[in-house]
Amino acid sequence: MMTAAATVLYQKEGSIAWVTLNRPKVLNAYNLDMRDELYTTLEAVRDDPEVRGMVLCGAGNRAFCAGADLTEFGSAPSQAIARQVRWERDVWGLFLSITKPIIAALHGYVLGSGLEMALLCDMRIASDDAVFGLPETVLGMIPAAGGTQTTSRTIGVASALELLLTGRRFSAQEAFSKGLINRIVPRAQLLSETLATVESVLAANQQALETVKAVIHRGLDLPLDKALNLENRVAASSLISQGGNVQTWQSPVQ
Ligand code: COA
Repeated sequence: MMTAAATVLYQKEGSIAWVTLNRPKVLNAYNLDMRDELYTTLEAVRDDPEVRGMVLCGAGNRAFCAGADLTEFGSAPSQAIARQVRWERDVWGLFLSITKPIIAALHGYVLGSGLEMALLCDMRIASDDAVFGLPETVLGMIPAAGGTQTTSRTIGVASALELLLTGRRFSAQEAFSKGLINRIVPRAQLLSETLATVESVLAANQQALETVKAVIHRGLDLPLDKALNLENRVAASSLISQGGNVQTWQSPVQ
């Protein structure tokens, strides 16, 4: 099944949703239309019981996403309207509310909101030619797709500050050595390797996957002793509800 929207493509293959940022002529720059279509697409991923996992990728040869559409910069309505729109269309919050595993397949330019979107995914696989950067400060802005928080949580404060304060571009190799991405693969194998990875992830019990994702995220907001306690309680109650049969496992995270 393929539902073609102007700026985001949604293709379901078995239990995997392929979501493609689709403005290749402008390096998949993230504009208001893409925000709206991505929102609707992510809702479909979240709500479709047949979908168990998602891949986020970019159309064309040159980029996953070269960041916010700079031609729209400055054309935003008043701050009050912008805030209202954000509440109504909280794409970044929607990303985080999806309990299913999400893997980003990154190639070419992965800049600004493009990298921030990837950081809202659970795993990032990049082609060896990918070029990364968070250039917002250079443009007089700050990251607004979660980047000030997700970057430091992913690679630590020191590296996050260095990348955000300089806005410099860096290679896939550096992104890998910083822990910003999980794997580097040759460009020609990016989608096949991503598919193999998502399939191997989805071979596990769905409830276990969703629970471990929830416990990791919930734990980040807690002091270590409370986080360990959360893991304890969840592990114990999931063992009880397993009853010797993983198929019956209930997610105990509220
Ligand atoms: N917003 C809007 N359009 C963008 C864009 C963006 N963020 N990034 C690229 N494009 C457009 C270009 O304007 C160009 O359009 P055109 O063919 O109609 O002129 C097209 O995409 C191709 O980009 P181009 O700049 O010609 O390619 P390049 O190889 O010379 O440079 C980049 C590639 C990524 C280095 C350069 O496009 C760039 O710096 N983009 C902006 C990155 C950025 O700062 N993002 C915002 C982060 S907050």
